[in-house]
Amino acid sequence: MVRCASVLLLAVLAQAQTPTYKYNFDEAKVANYALPDPLTLANGQPVKDVATWTAKRRPELMALFEDQVYGKTPAGHTDIRVTPPLIDLKALKGKAVRKQVTIYFSDRNDGPHMQVLLYLPPGNTRVPVFVGLNFSGNHTVNADPGIIMNDVWVTDPLDPKKRLHQQADERTRGSNATAWQVEKILARGYGLATVYYYDIEPDFVGGLAESTRMLFPEPERWSALGVWAWGLSRAVDYLLGDPRLDPKRIGLIGHSRLGKAALWAAAQDHRFSLVISNESGKGGASLLKRGFGETLDHLNGAFPHWFNPAYKEYTGHPEKLPIDGNELLALIAPRPLYVASAAEDLGSDPKGEFLSAVNVGRVYSLFGRKGLGVTQMPLVDQAVMHDVGYHVRSGKHDVLEFDWDQYLAFADLHWHPTGK
Ligand code: GCU
Repeated sequence: MVRCASVLLLAVLAQAQTPTYKYNFDEAKVANYALPDPLTLANGQPVKDVATWTAKRRPELMALFEDQVYGKTPAGHTDIRVTPPLIDLKALKGKAVRKQVTIYFSDRNDGPHMQVLLYLPPGNTRVPVFVGLNFSGNHTVNADPGIIMNDVWVTDPLDPKKRLHQQADERTRGSNATAWQVEKILARGYGLATVYYYDIEPDFVGGLAESTRMLFPEPERWSALGVWAWGLSRAVDYLLGDPRLDPKRIGLIGHSRLGKAALWAAAQDHRFSLVISNESGKGGASLLKRGFGETLDHLNGAFPHWFNPAYKEYTGHPEKLPIDGNELLALIAPRPLYVASAAEDLGSDPKGEFLSAVNVGRVYSLFGRKGLGVTQMPLVDQAVMHDVGYHVRSGKHDVLEFDWDQYLAFADLHWHPTGK
């Protein structure tokens, strides 16, 4: 009996210590919320032209995201070195040129570094390229036996709280191929460059000690999302040195947390000229203030390293946050921007992602560009695309072939790739 009571007490205590982060999945319970307006200056004046947007409003929004959300990206670069590329001109049975480099962020070979995997269609013409961080290692994006098996971080099977940094398991080669569609992208005349995001900062509480952030002053004032975004720009620095790449057509894609990082990277780096947010959810394209799906409390509680210290102050008070996802999207304007949701990905709040994409249309209009052109959510599996694009795919939180089909159509629309 005593034992029973103490077991019960332990269970109650454990429950008290583990916050539950209740998500609301009931549309009827979404209360009224005030969406911050990208086209109103902090002094209350409306933004009516591109000049005011560029000189005043955009810098105001950038400062808010730096101060309150992702942390300010430190100025200057570390001591960057790139190894000579390992090139295979006949990769994927002659359908691709494959290049692989290591980018070291300091003068130490055992310090932070990332590996870039680049695929280009064969030939001599300049091509557009998609850039994106991957979740599980470069070798997972395609079964190509030529992709170098680098070290990955895995959970220790003996202690789920511990992480091990070790050589990737050969059996995981190509395990994320569906999400990357390498052959399809190449056949359409585009290149693809990818980096394993853990190379830049391993994604767990305590990962900061192993992060590239440690090379900069006050790393704890920045954030994991901030340094992942920074890493994407360092990949572009390298890519621009490749004569096969068209510097004006560098696209950026990110899924989920890596979609959040991609949006923040594109907000800061205009070299990304077309941007795709695949289910980036709350803290990304979606609207946090719309009380549906993942909460700010969950973001801060489960992933404290993703955001900067100021963001923690909004725990329990998303209504006080001075910005929302629509304003993150506004920082991409007027570049082509595609936002995608998945019908079953309720945590990301598909409707919140859609409304955000609708709202940013006003900023695109300022530039004479066309936003979504609809105010009702399209049916599942039906894309709308102008300068802003959107679809809600049937199914779960993921990147699937259907998603890439829309992204390639969107890229064709804006880039008219060579040979078409
Ligand atoms: C979690 C997190 C989301 C994030 C997602 C992902 O579900 O709560 O905010 O987008 O992971 O990156 O897959």
